[in-house]
Amino acid sequence: MLTRIEALAAAESAAAPYMAEGAISFRDVMVKEDRHVSMTVLGASASAERALEAALRAALAAAGAETAHFRFRAGEGAPAAQQPAAAQPQAAASGPVRGHGAGLEAHPLLSSSSGVQFIAVASGKGGVGKSTVTVNLAVALARKGKRVGIIDADIYGFSVPDMMGIEDRPQIVNERVIPIEKFGVRVMSMGFFVEDNAPIVWRGPMLGKMLRNFFAEIEWGELDYLLLDLPPGTGDVALDVHQLIPQSKEIIVTTPHATAAFVAARAGAMAIKTEHEIIGIIENMSYFVSKSGEHEYVFGRGGGARLAESLNAELMAQIPLGAPDNHPSEPDFSPSVYKADTENGRIYLDIADRVIAKCEA
Ligand SMILES: Nc1ncnc2c1ncn2[C@@H]1O[C@H](COP(=O)(O)OP(=O)(O)O)[C@@H](O)[C@H]1O
Ligand SMILES: [Mg+2]
Repeated sequence: MLTRIEALAAAESAAAPYMAEGAISFRDVMVKEDRHVSMTVLGASASAERALEAALRAALAAAGAETAHFRFRAGEGAPAAQQPAAAQPQAAASGPVRGHGAGLEAHPLLSSSSGVQFIAVASGKGGVGKSTVTVNLAVALARKGKRVGIIDADIYGFSVPDMMGIEDRPQIVNERVIPIEKFGVRVMSMGFFVEDNAPIVWRGPMLGKMLRNFFAEIEWGELDYLLLDLPPGTGDVALDVHQLIPQSKEIIVTTPHATAAFVAARAGAMAIKTEHEIIGIIENMSYFVSKSGEHEYVFGRGGGARLAESLNAELMAQIPLGAPDNHPSEPDFSPSVYKADTENGRIYLDIADRVIAKCEA
């Protein structure tokens, strides 16, 4: 069984000796039936092509591939036709070109000097509170005075706009989409563009391209933190995030239940494979505070701690069960954002402090 990640890792290590002649990268990596690999190889010099191909073939065979097919291309960005005029990178030829990030190296947010901290929020499965954590951590960071954005990278299962109570739709100025700001957080979500099943700005189920568009076509302005709400599990989006934002850090959300933590460990393994630093584990729905003030561990105990231990990461918080005490009649209503002066609101402020300490140390 060979995954995309493993095929990419094998190709990258096989190509390493050829890097001296220029940056080599891989795009459109596909693995069919767990053993038939195909990929586009960008940036290999003509003289190195045959030796590189043999090295790639050997590495992929060793990794379990039965067949391998390569398309060699010059190391240029994505075809210009796929990008709006405003998002044309100025210097597509310089720097490594990576996957769906091809041509985006010049994007001000993605350059290593931008100072933006990227944090992907991942989970092994849905329903554990990943989006709730993303939204509330973002709001808590904003409450601490940080400039924060959220990319709702759960392209099909987007939920961030609803959770934050966002009803506006983004404006488009000079062919650039302006994120919606609420509670001091700038938000971009596929949900803004899919109304009555009629996407306005982007068409087609092109996941990686969507993610790319969330950078290329969005006027983010200056940011300190950009949080990504990943889809549940370990699918292609995690790989795309790696290619687009190799410097991204990760937070993994689990519930206290043993099996949930076990499944979450896979998301952790994925983070390790993609070399994303895991800055912490958040255990959500940890306990219920009864009327008499006792903690009732309705979903079991210890999942977060075990996961933290197995991933050698900090257990940043244990968040109790409880819906935010918000009412639709309030001016800034949202169904899922805890107020700062509530129990869970304070826990998220504490997580924000920990995140800041980790990222700005
Ligand atoms: N600590 C919590 N207490 C009570 N309900 C919660 C808590 N965290 C999340 N929820 C609820 O659980 C459901 C799933 O959460 P969500 O953030 O959508 O999970 P995911 O993004 O992992 O699928 C939502 O209805 C959310 O409001
Ligand atoms: Mg979600």
